[in-house]
Amino acid sequence: MSEHGHGHGHGHGHGHGHGHGDDQAEVLDLDAELLADHTAAVIDWLPTSAPRHVVDLGSGTGAGTFALLSHFPEAHITAVDSSLDHLQRLRAKAGQRGLADRIHTVLADLDTDWPDLGTPDLIWASASLHHMADPAHTLGRLHKTLAPGGLLAVVELAGMPQFFPEQAPDAHDERLPHRGADWGPMLTEAGFTLEGERTVTVHLERSEKVERYARIVLGRQLEPEALEAALRREDLALRTERTVWAARKQGLAT
Ligand SMILES: C[S@@+](CC[C@H](N)C(=O)[O-])C[C@H]1O[C@@H](n2cnc3c(N)ncnc32)[C@H](O)[C@@H]1O
Repeated sequence: MSEHGHGHGHGHGHGHGHGHGDDQAEVLDLDAELLADHTAAVIDWLPTSAPRHVVDLGSGTGAGTFALLSHFPEAHITAVDSSLDHLQRLRAKAGQRGLADRIHTVLADLDTDWPDLGTPDLIWASASLHHMADPAHTLGRLHKTLAPGGLLAVVELAGMPQFFPEQAPDAHDERLPHRGADWGPMLTEAGFTLEGERTVTVHLERSEKVERYARIVLGRQLEPEALEAALRREDLALRTERTVWAARKQGLAT
C-alpha cells in the first residue's frame, strides 16, 4: 500500500512503475509486512463474501494479492502492474508459498493498453489509482470490467507516513497534497454505488522493520547526518492512515 514507494511525495509526478527501483520494491515488501494486520482487517471489512476472481490493480510486489488469497481461499487473482520487476517478485513469492496456480500476472501500463482482465467479482486497487494519468477514465473502465454486482475496493493513503509525534498527521497539512483526497464522488460519477468508507489509523512502535522503513523513506528527505540523528530518536514510530472505499457495480451477482 505504499505511497512513498514512488519517492518522497507526489510532487515528483505520478510515476508509472518508475521510482526508486529496488528500493521501491523493498519499501512495498516492508509495508506489506508491517501492515499485514491492518490489510487483513480492511479485507475482512469489505462487503463481499466469496469472490472467485479478484483483480489486484497495480499489485506491486503483492501486498494485497497474498492477503486476499489467504482471506478468500476459493479465489484466483489476476495481478496487474506496469513494473516487470514487481511482478517477478510477486511470482517468486507465489512459488515459494505454493500459490502459483492461484495467481495470474499481467504486465500492462493501464494508461495506455487495457489488458483483458476477465470479469472479476472483486477489484482491489491499493495506492495505485492515483498513479493513473486519468483516474476517472480508469474508474470507468473498472466499472465495465467488473461483473454485475461486483465490488471495487479503493485503498489510498491519507498522507505521507510520519515518524515523529510533532509531524502527527494533520488533515490540513499542505505538505501532504494527496491527504484526504476523496474518491467517493469520483466513484459515484463512474457509476458505482458507495457502500462504505473506512479510515484505518496505523501506529507501530519502533522495531527493526520500522527503522528500516524509516531509513528508506526519510533517507529521501534528509541529509545523511540529519537522517542518522532522526533514526537515533527514541520516539521514532510509524504513523500512517489509510482509507478504503467499497464501491458496488449494480446488477445481479452471477
Ligand atoms: C504505491 S504502489 C502500490 C502497490 C500495491 N498495490 C500495494 O498496496 O503495495 C503503486 C503500484 O502501481 C503501479 N502502477 C503505477 N502506474 C501504473 C500504470 N499506469 N499501470 C499499471 N500499474 C501502475 C506501480 O508499478 C506500483 O507497483
